[in-house]
Amino acid sequence: MKNKVTRNTLLRMKKTGEKVAAITSYDYLCTRMIDQAGIDLILVGDSLGMVMMGYENTLPVTMEEIIHHCKAVSRARPRAIVVGDMPFMSYQASVEDAVRNAGRLVKEGGVESVKLEGGRRYVPVIEAIVEASIPVVGHLGLTPQSLHQFGGYRVQGKDPESADRLVEDAGALERAGCYAVVLEGIPWQLARTITEAVSIPTIGIGAGPHCDGQVLVLHDMLGIFEEPLPKFVKCYERIGERIREAVAAYAKEVKEGRFPGLEHSYSSERQDGRE
Ligand code: KIV
Repeated sequence: MKNKVTRNTLLRMKKTGEKVAAITSYDYLCTRMIDQAGIDLILVGDSLGMVMMGYENTLPVTMEEIIHHCKAVSRARPRAIVVGDMPFMSYQASVEDAVRNAGRLVKEGGVESVKLEGGRRYVPVIEAIVEASIPVVGHLGLTPQSLHQFGGYRVQGKDPESADRLVEDAGALERAGCYAVVLEGIPWQLARTITEAVSIPTIGIGAGPHCDGQVLVLHDMLGIFEEPLPKFVKCYERIGERIREAVAAYAKEVKEGRFPGLEHSYSSERQDGRE
């Protein structure tokens, strides 16, 4: 495909200063629309646990669930690079687990890359997945799979020690072979420091304006997922409201016998040569 976005494209974008526009997607139709809108990276995030499955957090998401959605997204054959999220406990227990599960996302899910959360502790895992020829995106900061360890969704890297640790982690992920890193829920000053320190693109979410790119959850920015949203989400639409209005109008017309009319009905009489 012409202009297909690959890991090399993203590395080039870092060099030229072109920002990376990333977004999540979990199904075929949304992926087609997103791709026509000029997105560079589509993430089949484990946020699908909340958005698609109604779980309280990302922890219950299984490999089977992620693969199911990766298949739907990759069937749209987008120009954007498709990244599959590695669910909780698909890479934490052993390097072997991690390589096998990353392989399943590519082989069964059809994705072109995987993402996993965590710092230097995951260097051997990342090295092994990259060695298996699977491009890896790292994820640092407020990593939602560590929710219980953090004691809630708390902004990370606010004190000098933890900020230094995150800068070192970003360097370790780059050296391990990651071609990009998501920075989530950290002060914008720290995100800027990390962005200047590494030569792979940083993709921010709740990390301020100085990252090399941004990612948002599609259903948050469209105003479909209407739970209280974090400060960093900008709603570009109120699709939730519009869906409710449209469905309410339909229900009202059905109940009042105004839909369907004859214009939406077939006739046994031939009209204009058509049935
Ligand atoms: O699961 C997800 O959607 C993510 C992004 C929010 C970065 O990890």
